[in-house]
Amino acid sequence: MKIAIVYSSKTGNTEELAQLIFHLFLKKNVMVSLFRIEQFRVRDLSQFEAVVIGTYTWGNGEIPQEMMELYRAFETQDVKKVLTGVIGTGDSGYPKFCGAVDEFKDMLYVNTNLSATLKIEVSLQMKDIDRCSRFVTIFLDQLSRKQGIG
Ligand SMILES: Cc1cc2nc3c(=O)[nH]c(=O)nc-3n(C[C@H](O)[C@H](O)[C@H](O)COP(=O)(O)O)c2cc1C
Repeated sequence: MKIAIVYSSKTGNTEELAQLIFHLFLKKNVMVSLFRIEQFRVRDLSQFEAVVIGTYTWGNGEIPQEMMELYRAFETQDVKKVLTGVIGTGDSGYPKFCGAVDEFKDMLYVNTNLSATLKIEVSLQMKDIDRCSRFVTIFLDQLSRKQGIG
C-alpha cells in the first residue's frame, strides 16, 4: 500500500492534523509518506495508490493558492483509480467552514475514487482523536477492498 499525505499549513493546525493521521497510518503498518505541498512533485501523483490531501481554508472559503497546482493535477491526470481522502482545519466563525475541504471533495468525487473527508475546528482536541482514527480505518478498509478487486 503506497499512500501519500500532502498538506499545506500556514499556522500549524493542519500540519498537526496531517502528522497525527500519518502516525495513525504508521500504527497500521502501511507504507505512507508525508509531504508538505512544496516537497511534493505533482507529476508523481498517479504513482500513489492513495492520496490524502490536508488543507486549511483561506479568504472566503477558498483553497490556499499553493494547493491549486495539486487541485488542477487531479483534474488533468489519469487518477480515476487513485483512492483519495480530504482532511482539513477551519474556523466555523467563517460562513464557509472548511470550504477548501468541500471544494477538493467535489472535484475528487468526479475525478478519483473518493473515500472519506474530515473537518476539524481550528486545532486538534482530545475529542478529535477518535474521529481521526475512524477516518484512517474507513480509508484503509476501502483501500484493501479496492486491492481485492484490482
Ligand atoms: C484571512 C483568513 C481567512 C479564513 N477563511 C476561512 C474560511 O473561509 N473558512 C474556514 O473554515 N476557515 C477560515 N479561516 C481559518 C483557518 O482556515 C484556520 O485557522 C485553520 O486552522 C488554519 O490552518 P493552519 O494552521 O494549518 O494554517 C481563515 C483564516 C484567516 C486568517
